[in-house]
Amino acid sequence: MIDKINGLLSEIENLKASKVEDIEALRIKYLSKKGEISTLMNDFRNVAADQKREVGMKLNELKEKAQNQINLLKESLENSQEGDQSIDLTRTAAPIVLGTRHPISIVRKEICDIFRRLGFSIAEGPEIEDDWHVFSSLNFAEDHPARDMQDTFFIARSPEIVLRTHTSSVQTRVMEKQEPPIRIICPGRVYRNEAISYRAHCFFHQVEALYIDKNVSFADLKQALLFVAKELFGAETKIRLRPSYFPFTEPSAEMDISCNICGGKGCPFCKHTGWVEILGCGMVDPNVLENCGIDSKVYTGYALGMGIERITNLKYRVKDLRMFSENDIRFLDQFESAY
Ligand code: DAH
Repeated sequence: MIDKINGLLSEIENLKASKVEDIEALRIKYLSKKGEISTLMNDFRNVAADQKREVGMKLNELKEKAQNQINLLKESLENSQEGDQSIDLTRTAAPIVLGTRHPISIVRKEICDIFRRLGFSIAEGPEIEDDWHVFSSLNFAEDHPARDMQDTFFIARSPEIVLRTHTSSVQTRVMEKQEPPIRIICPGRVYRNEAISYRAHCFFHQVEALYIDKNVSFADLKQALLFVAKELFGAETKIRLRPSYFPFTEPSAEMDISCNICGGKGCPFCKHTGWVEILGCGMVDPNVLENCGIDSKVYTGYALGMGIERITNLKYRVKDLRMFSENDIRFLDQFESAY
């Protein structure tokens, strides 16, 4: 046994390894449960009693040496890797590929910036809303179809909690808290229970604008609309207002812009009319002001709401709405913005 131990001792002193795997193989060979040293340890009980002391000491020495040698090999391998000459530290760094802004974010910012130049500030509200802020305060009749299950995602029934179907809910939130003058722009995501197709989605984005003060008139609304349209689509853009109906505005209108694709001459995009619809607007209904604690005899105001996807489609000619939420890098990569 002593001879065997001495043999292993000199073997271990000369161990060499150039790879992590080799060191691991040596560890298994000598130190694992079934390795050479453990086997000797097991045989120790058969050693004659008068030799036990000497053999025991030798065995311990062997085990310690094996452990040390393997640790040394590991250390020297690590040190040699640190100084690896094959790494060229002077090489130019690989370029970091920057992502792009999402087209909806680009257009949302553009719209908000235009309104900010008119003195509007940003207001936000929750996407999960109660019936009061989405419908009742905005003068929706009890049986208005927009409250219907087909349009609205309900979260709870009583009290009624919904995913907001429009950003007009933020109007109410602000009017309840703030005294006029109020001049806000509210960008945000909205939800409607629609079958998903190239032209409709169950969530999309809107920007709402609200201006309340003394003596605000429809003429102010028209002027703001013209300014926004020209800023968004170019100085030659014309606008047209058509009478419409929204529960929260009276009178209400829808605004068309001269088709920015054919310049108003008529093309398949504008269905040969020369005009495309881009937003809804109107004078805030006195009932809505009163619902929010604002004296409708003293104050008037206008509101407007537009879909960001629609504006983005007009600017970038995206034909399929679903592209906006699919996160396809090939699509997103095509949009560049300075911000
Ligand atoms: N909330 C309307 C919608 O989702 C859009 C809208 C129309 C907002 C007219 C307004 C408005 O503020 O005056 O379709």
